[in-house]
Amino acid sequence: QPAPAPRPGRPAPAVVAHRGASDDAPEHTLAAYRKAIEDGADALECDVRLTADGHLVCVHDRRVNRTSNGRGAVSTLELADLAALDFGSWKGGAADTEEPDTETSGPDRTAVLTLERLLELVADADRRVELAIETKHPTRWAGQVEARLLDLLGRFGLASPPPGEPSPVRVMSFSARSLHRIRAAAPAIPVVYLMQFVSPRLRDGRLPPGVHIAGPSIRIVRNHPGYVARLHRAGHRVHVWTVNEPEDVELCLRLGVDAVITNRPKAVLTQLGRR
Ligand code: G3P
Ligand code: CA
Repeated sequence: QPAPAPRPGRPAPAVVAHRGASDDAPEHTLAAYRKAIEDGADALECDVRLTADGHLVCVHDRRVNRTSNGRGAVSTLELADLAALDFGSWKGGAADTEEPDTETSGPDRTAVLTLERLLELVADADRRVELAIETKHPTRWAGQVEARLLDLLGRFGLASPPPGEPSPVRVMSFSARSLHRIRAAAPAIPVVYLMQFVSPRLRDGRLPPGVHIAGPSIRIVRNHPGYVARLHRAGHRVHVWTVNEPEDVELCLRLGVDAVITNRPKAVLTQLGRR
């Protein structure tokens, strides 16, 4: 079957691996991100949270209960506590993918992934791979998540790309305040305002000040297909999450969205005729 055509005048969307290739491997593990790079994803999405001793780790939920064999909130645990847990077995382990995670775990355990390790993985990739980093509702550590994130990005030379060059990193959040902190400290890093619903003051395609990329859910896009055009008319780009079903990929293509964030990068790239 020929690949569907993108909306005339707009390139096909970039493909962003949501929590890594998280359909194939446990989310937010080195194995999931290695697989996404191997599959050809343009970018990797990850959620970051701060541990009690100030390390940024790639974990989606406030607590580790769902994705590890431990219990408790990330913000009350130290990195050493998290490092003792297994973040793979809840989904059958990560060892069925290309390379077992022997580097950061024991033979039968998948260690928590630090953002620093993910940045190293991307730096070592043999092609350009972008990062879409989401700050998770940083209430307990207000301001510290962003400060630590910018510190780490700075160490990898990612906080200020050379003038005229596109940034390989963007920061996403449901919190406009979190994005504002990033904008104020690192204006060269693009920020994405994530939306689960569209508040009345943003219905005309406006975004919070300084934000030029909208991140609506696929449900918003399905229910309000005209919204993507409104955002584009306002000069914004549109990154949609989480786009896993072929009919949703098709819809995003028809509407000319700029990026799709998916648990299934391989399938989406295949549908787009890129594999
Ligand atoms: O990519 C944005 C998306 O990840 C936001 O929702 O809950 O999966 O972090 P969530
Ligand atoms: Ca996320």
